[in-house]
Amino acid sequence: MTDTLTAFAQGKIDQLAAASLFRTLKPTARLDGVRVERDGRTFVSFSCNDYLGLSHHPEVKAAAKAAVDTYGTGAGASRLITGDHPLLSELETRLARLKGTEAACVFGSGFLANLGLIPTFVGPEDLVLVDELAHACIWAGAKLSGARTLGFRHNEVADLEAKLAEHRARHPKALVATDAVFSMDGDIAPLDAVSRACRARDAWLLVDDAHGLGVVGDGGGTAKLFPDARVDLQMGTLSKAVGGYGAYVCASQPVIDFIKTRTRTVVYTTGLPPANAAAALAALEVMAREPERVAAPIARARRFTAAFNLPPAESAVVPVVLGEAETALAAARDLESKGLLVVPIRPPTVPAGTARLRLAFCSEHTPEHVDRLIEAVRPWMHP
Ligand SMILES: Cc1ncc(COP(=O)(O)O)c(C=O)c1O
Repeated sequence: MTDTLTAFAQGKIDQLAAASLFRTLKPTARLDGVRVERDGRTFVSFSCNDYLGLSHHPEVKAAAKAAVDTYGTGAGASRLITGDHPLLSELETRLARLKGTEAACVFGSGFLANLGLIPTFVGPEDLVLVDELAHACIWAGAKLSGARTLGFRHNEVADLEAKLAEHRARHPKALVATDAVFSMDGDIAPLDAVSRACRARDAWLLVDDAHGLGVVGDGGGTAKLFPDARVDLQMGTLSKAVGGYGAYVCASQPVIDFIKTRTRTVVYTTGLPPANAAAALAALEVMAREPERVAAPIARARRFTAAFNLPPAESAVVPVVLGEAETALAAARDLESKGLLVVPIRPPTVPAGTARLRLAFCSEHTPEHVDRLIEAVRPWMHP
């Protein structure tokens, strides 16, 4: 007889499969910045966020290997116990300098960062306003905080202002949270106007620049695109353009000191392995030294958008929205048959009816790779 937990899981799987929404893991070995091997076949991938190819850069790999040889593979404990390797503070100093803040704190991952940060600053009596298309981990952090959490319409500052006007006065503290570059759409939040709306109502602003760092603002991320925006918590990841794993938040010294003593995803979790910090430091070095590498992902993305007379790409991410999940699956299968890996993105990652091919352009894509993609996608753009 099947136990009830297994029966529950099977029932859910059957429902999802019937709606073309069941997802499975497919072992995929990344061979370099853009080539991947799956089922014994090699593909050019347009589904990796390694925008600058740094995960395979010789200097970055050498830095990680040297750190493993010297310090081992793991941090050994939480940072407050024995897991606070000096490379972490070196990385934090580097990130704070890059973002123009007094201090920074690194995290095990971007998901952990947002999950921990939001409940550190707001609680059940407070208000959180989140862009409706912000990443799932921002929503998860808001929910975990117990604060009254409301969405505002995507990139609509007027809606944010209206919601602040209606609700702010009833709560002692308020936090506004948004992606800077939206992970599934590639567009950019109007951070200057968002920050003005926050200032006007004394709301703190958390911005997630996971897809901005290394790609927009000459590599400095959206902080460089909006120098006048006041962002209280500048969060981002080391897992996309930086090519490794981990995340960070940059802020004032007291804010960072408070995070290091109170944020549960810092206090109650093992520190980032030293090799991850060494790799990130080396990657940031390459990024600072090679502006042509930094400029390449958007140039590749714009080659694609120009081919279809779309508005020029704002970031390295370009969505091709196809509608139903089955259509996105069929398009991805078609591209796969042509040697291109573009994983279809379906609900709940994106809203119902907006299943899509999410194209991620990298410095390691050649113009010829992009032209192959353009020809392969063409029948799906003009069916
Ligand atoms: C906008 C955004 N924030 C946070 C994350 C989570 O970061 P990580 O993969 O480091 O957990 C992602 C993607 O993974 C993301 O796209």
